[in-house]
Amino acid sequence: MSSAFGTETVLDVRHWTDDYFSFTTTRDDGFRFDNGQFVMIGLPVEQPGGGTKPLMRAYSIASANWEEQLEFFSIKVQDGPLTSRLQHIRPGDEILIGRKPTGTLLITDLHPGRNLYLLGTGTGLAPWMSVIKDPETYERFERVVLCHGVRHEADLCYRDYITRELPQHELLGDILRERLVYYPAVTREDFVFEGRPQRGRLTDLMATGQMMADLGLDPLDPARDRAMICGSPAMLADFRALLDGRGFKPSMRIGAIGDYVFERAFVEK
Ligand code: A2P
Repeated sequence: MSSAFGTETVLDVRHWTDDYFSFTTTRDDGFRFDNGQFVMIGLPVEQPGGGTKPLMRAYSIASANWEEQLEFFSIKVQDGPLTSRLQHIRPGDEILIGRKPTGTLLITDLHPGRNLYLLGTGTGLAPWMSVIKDPETYERFERVVLCHGVRHEADLCYRDYITRELPQHELLGDILRERLVYYPAVTREDFVFEGRPQRGRLTDLMATGQMMADLGLDPLDPARDRAMICGSPAMLADFRALLDGRGFKPSMRIGAIGDYVFERAFVEK
């Protein structure tokens, strides 16, 4: 097996819906990453001529870098080369994990600001599960708005974890209760959250200002607001056009500071 990958053990698997699952693995002591980064993960696949070959895809790390285990959040693609296999993993199975996490979704590549909008659709939620557990996020931003856009209410994976468990967290609970706002949106059925209808695409909810009105926040302002975007190529293009049109400047590479950062969710799996 290539030394570009290490082997970890699957600890726990959670099937949220027919389309989404997540799992945790052991974490090598030497495996370091910044919250928001992705890493290659995969499985050894039997080759027709014998032997195995690693089949790897990029996955955002959904656990924070201070946590003992690694967590990943995945879509299930029935004929997807990797996820058709990965969705069947069980505790005790081994998984390959790359040794070099990377990625552009870094809070350190954003200018200081007031509100940080974390914009994710589908599995584009994954990097935010890491970023919202990073104490530094709350040192840099007064308010963190975690937006998750999905088709159906049942697709709001991690909803209870975000709204019930995390606010009770021993160390982070106090600051999260004060500064983290969860804004779920559902496109394909009516959805009411905390008494407000939140149906529609996140792009539309932000463009019309409904999102800010719902949350009691000022209209978008490139002088004070910051954003991180993770989703499909189309979602990314639409959000980028929206933010660019409002005068936000993107960070175009790792280490370049901007008003927003973006990364495509790795959907072809
Ligand atoms: P829609 O139902 O209108 O397609 P998917 O399940 O395909 O990954 O999509 C997840 C969520 O992202 C859905 O609510 C979907 O809305 C929404 N979505 C798809 N394309 C875009 C886009 N270009 N901009 C914003 N949201 C999008």
